[in-house]
Amino acid sequence: CGIVGYIGTQAATEILLSGLEKLEYRGYDSAGIATVTEGEIHCVRAKGKLYNLREKLEREVNPANIGIGHTRWATHGKPEEYNAHPHMDTAMRVAVVQNGIIENYRDLREELKARGHKFRSDTDTEVIPHLIAEFLSHSATPGFTHSSTLFLEAVREAVNKLEGAFAIAVLSADYPDELIVARQQAPLTIGFGQGEFFCASDTPALVPHTRAVLTLENGELARLTPLGVEVYNFAGERLKKSPRTLNWNPVQVEKQGFKHFMLKEIYEQPGVVRACLEAYLHPDWHPDKDTSPINLAIPASLYDDLEHVQILACGTSWHAALVGKYLLEQLAGIPTMVQYASEFRYAPTPLTVNTLTIGVTQSGETADTLAALAMEKKRREGKPSQFQVRLLGISNRPESSLGHLVPQIIETHAGMEIGVAATKTFVSQLMAFYCLALDLAYRRQTISATRLEEILVGLRQLPAQIELILESQERYIEQLTHDFAETKDFIFLGRGINFPIALEGALKLKEISYIHAEGYPAGEMKHGPIALLDAKVPVVAIAMPGNVYEKVLSNAQEAKARDSRLIGVTPMNDPEAAETFDDLLPVPAVEELLSPILTVIPLQLLAYHIAARRGLDVDQPRNLAKSVTVE
Ligand code: G6P
Repeated sequence: CGIVGYIGTQAATEILLSGLEKLEYRGYDSAGIATVTEGEIHCVRAKGKLYNLREKLEREVNPANIGIGHTRWATHGKPEEYNAHPHMDTAMRVAVVQNGIIENYRDLREELKARGHKFRSDTDTEVIPHLIAEFLSHSATPGFTHSSTLFLEAVREAVNKLEGAFAIAVLSADYPDELIVARQQAPLTIGFGQGEFFCASDTPALVPHTRAVLTLENGELARLTPLGVEVYNFAGERLKKSPRTLNWNPVQVEKQGFKHFMLKEIYEQPGVVRACLEAYLHPDWHPDKDTSPINLAIPASLYDDLEHVQILACGTSWHAALVGKYLLEQLAGIPTMVQYASEFRYAPTPLTVNTLTIGVTQSGETADTLAALAMEKKRREGKPSQFQVRLLGISNRPESSLGHLVPQIIETHAGMEIGVAATKTFVSQLMAFYCLALDLAYRRQTISATRLEEILVGLRQLPAQIELILESQERYIEQLTHDFAETKDFIFLGRGINFPIALEGALKLKEISYIHAEGYPAGEMKHGPIALLDAKVPVVAIAMPGNVYEKVLSNAQEAKARDSRLIGVTPMNDPEAAETFDDLLPVPAVEELLSPILTVIPLQLLAYHIAARRGLDVDQPRNLAKSVTVE
């Protein structure tokens, strides 16, 4: 979900709406804003995308210069207007927007109901305004005047009652010059203007107004007034904090002539790979030099005597982690485990010694990944030195919550990604893993100088090779999608280092076209998915020269024998492939080890064009959100 807030001298509504537009990638099944005018809270909400809310608000003139807004990704309660934020207390004197999940909301709700509070939604969030109103009513006893800290105090008492992960922004009709925000395990940043202040769950909503920002830490709350910002911890102690300046390139958040952000981001991939190469490779390295060719600025303490790597991630980042495992094992000889962060949290692997734990998350905000990493840190506290935690993050947003948790981050240089389905951030994560594996292989001497050079040369050729695929394939893939207008299922096959790419190809198609798709290791097809095959189920197989090339081709033949249409992601000008497949999506004939960065490109284009042809909302597919900040 996305949160925004404003307090200052301008009319709040438009600032809130345009802020929410920048955050819509975080959720878009309903939206709402609340403002305060003439001692009353004015709350407007709408089901569906943000333009529905905008349409409702266009009919009114609202001079309020304080407000909060929300765009929702439903967790508790259907995406209906009555469940949309902001939520209010019984007397409608307090309004709250929240991002996260309040785990103990059922108990709180029962307690509050017993005290006469009336609930209007199915959400967990609604307990918060009621709770704050309850604490305000305790302090507003006769003889008490409205002092400046009462509202802050009531919010502070309320957040101390909440269990779970949350970021909130709160308004009160009785304190029209104050906006209170609080953070616990969900992101929240404050923006500093001239006599005006902003808050948002992510920086794109702040940058049109200011570059001076302050990111709250867990367990902190802040009071924003037109005069300034005060930060406190949940115990009520005032903290000294000052804003930092954001680096920001606004061009990245425009479509620049592309029909969708996703297509633009697919086309940015050659540049992203170049940026990674520039950042990670020493330009003048030579095998005779006594240093690693890779520059990740990772302290030796993370690498020393390393015996195991465990990688935690979700979604597309989990697929990147699987490629990472292949590289770390095959190049650097380190046994590597990859786990879904959401699974690891509740069934962690028994502790292994000298273990590097890597969290992969492009946004740096995925709740499960953050929690799994925090748990790993805690679990290893106070253990003998060989069990001490060693954490590394791979992220496109080093300033994110991940950055607060993990001191060492490999930044992936993909630039802001707006399309909900990850494309360029995936490729950039792969680049980070190539470089990490090569760095480790060099230091552990598991690779010869010649082989190392060979791979480095191969990596440097990738940007031009991606360009070639984009130039030569896009039109053809667009045409090909005509044939899949009625298709309901797809199977993607790959082996070895391209198995995760088959998973990623299937995930991309599912996410944006809503076609059922499964990725499978090609050799496993005969143990199940083969039962699904017939002329209506196309099979996409990734077959690149190397270890498993012939094997994948024979697996593809097994599908052809069941009448499936066979689409091959194959090396360019390969007669054997041309004979096997009905349709070819050729990529330059690189060695298998480097091929994932190329083979994923036609699969992204295939998913994109199928979805675009079906007229679907490619950048904001139904039910998904770009960063899932709840468990
Ligand atoms: C969401 C997005 C996916 C993404 C996943 C993990 O589900 O829709 O595209 O792969 O989160 O995100 P992260 O930011 O942790 O890489």
